[in-house]
Amino acid sequence: MFRLTNISVYQFKNYLHSSFSFNERIIGVCGNNGVGKTNLLDAIYYLCFTKSYFTKSDAQNVRYGAQGFRIEGEFEVNDECEKAVCILRETGKKEFFWHEALYEKFSAHIGKLPCVIIAPDDVQIITAGSEERRRFIDALLCQLDAKYLQSLMDYNRTLQQRNSLLKALAERKQHDHHLLDVYDEQLVKTGTYVFEERKRFSENLLPLVKKFYVEIAGADEPVDIKYESQALSSSFENLLKQFREKDLMLQRSSIGVHKDDIDISMNGQSFKSFASQGQRKSLLFALKLAEFEILKNEKGFAPLLLLDDVFEKLDESRMQNLLRRACIENSGQVFITDTHGERIKSHFERLSIKYQLIDLYASGSLTL
Ligand SMILES: Nc1ncnc2c1ncn2[C@@H]1O[C@H](COP(=O)(O)OP(=O)(O)O)[C@@H](O)[C@H]1O
Ligand SMILES: [Mg+2]
Repeated sequence: MFRLTNISVYQFKNYLHSSFSFNERIIGVCGNNGVGKTNLLDAIYYLCFTKSYFTKSDAQNVRYGAQGFRIEGEFEVNDECEKAVCILRETGKKEFFWHEALYEKFSAHIGKLPCVIIAPDDVQIITAGSEERRRFIDALLCQLDAKYLQSLMDYNRTLQQRNSLLKALAERKQHDHHLLDVYDEQLVKTGTYVFEERKRFSENLLPLVKKFYVEIAGADEPVDIKYESQALSSSFENLLKQFREKDLMLQRSSIGVHKDDIDISMNGQSFKSFASQGQRKSLLFALKLAEFEILKNEKGFAPLLLLDDVFEKLDESRMQNLLRRACIENSGQVFITDTHGERIKSHFERLSIKYQLIDLYASGSLTL
């Protein structure tokens, strides 16, 4: 069993100093726009991933006018009490503690507190470029496999170095093609591991996505999803050799797992170009629930599920299907935000589930 029992946030986004205790499995968080619902979910996300889901720079999450922030959380993981603390010092240095011990590498924390978040802009996973889909699959794999995370970090570093070298070679500031061989060798090694894991996991993930899609959309629409990688046709080693001249000309790397994608179609047509908003949302939930299912099976307990404003723009029946799946057919802890306390209450009551409702407006935690 896995629960977050309490969290304290200091100078984090709109919060000055607030603490919350969670004593139910299902937690509704309500309040008007701008009260800090998403920020609270992001604080939880921070404790699981050592970073924000929404912003790239830690400094952006410091409360305006303040210096540094701190997030503390207490978790119950299989009857053990665990404590995670994330501090951004006034100097801008980030520290992460697990049971009072400081991590040397934040990557060692990833996967200890598994978590799946669904936020309104996540529909970009379906509609935007391939980067969003790689980010999605990486979020899953990094929580499962430390070697994957390490390989991916090494791969990205080498890729940057290789791209800089390609530029330097083109501008004749560098003449050393031997170094390019070295980078290619590293890319092949780390990239092949990333490719093989993505391929293996896609085989588990994609059938689940199809199953959840039918369940949520409530219709047997034949959605087809496949993993795409250049390495499916030939090895990275061969491809890198073949495309070296082109890379030198383009001054960037055209081969590798940074080009991978997940192709989604329905009735033979590209899903994103014709699917309705409702179909896109259903598919997004299906992707996330499949991620959730795999994490649960691999970890042996349900991850935290953070649902941000999922009630918006979803029809009643899809909403009920989603809530049933997220809250009843799941034994894990769920955080759900909504602007309307009454709406959230009536949904929970219709499903006859026990819940805790946190009204951010009423709780006095708003210190703007
Ligand atoms: N670094 C920050 N310092 C102070 N306030 C912030 C910071 N970042 C975001 N906010 C404020 O937080 C509020 C949004 O909070 P959010 O959690 O997104 O609200 P909602 O309840 O609508 O989800 C906005 O009013 C925004 O100005
Ligand atoms: Mg919000």
